[in-house]
Amino acid sequence: MISAKTIAARIEDLSREISQEFSDTDKLVVVGLLRGSFVFIADLVRELDMPVEVDFLEASSYGNAMESSREVRILKDIRGQIEGRDVLVVEDIVDTGHTLTHVKHLLESRNPRKLKTIALLDKPTRREADIRGDWIGFEIPDEFVVGYGIDFAQRNRNLPYIGKVRFTDE
Ligand code: IMP
Ligand code: MG
Repeated sequence: MISAKTIAARIEDLSREISQEFSDTDKLVVVGLLRGSFVFIADLVRELDMPVEVDFLEASSYGNAMESSREVRILKDIRGQIEGRDVLVVEDIVDTGHTLTHVKHLLESRNPRKLKTIALLDKPTRREADIRGDWIGFEIPDEFVVGYGIDFAQRNRNLPYIGKVRFTDE
């Protein structure tokens, strides 16, 4: 669906915008949401021409996917303090939007100076929560995708590109 080359080019553009947005920041806290964002955050921070601190947070959303408000649990919190700091939250995919909404509210309650979000992929047609990443790599249709850090049952995270999963009944 999206080649490694296309992803790299998009990250170059996004990192330029991010560097501009945070040009007056002395050290940006980049928070990756585990596990899906680990490849994206690795490529993104290497394009950022500013001091960064890298931290990770793991959330799991579970329960009934048909419900409009799913419960999101924090499995691993960030290590650093973010009060008064500038923070960039890095997500792999915004799907229903519940995960990013929950994480954003949690981190905002700690009073950062500025908090922005970026997602590599956005599936706007699946949205249930009223949220949008401040930056989006690519808008994609409602397909199940893998690669570039993103898994299907813990497989295919190591693909260098984003591919769509073809289910046998399609
Ligand atoms: P949501 O926005 O709270 O619905 O959850 C987003 C999370 O669901 C992402 O961080 C992914 O971990 C997972 N997810 C959503 N769509 C896909 C997909 O197409 N492939 C793999 N994981 C997905
Ligand atoms: Mg995820």
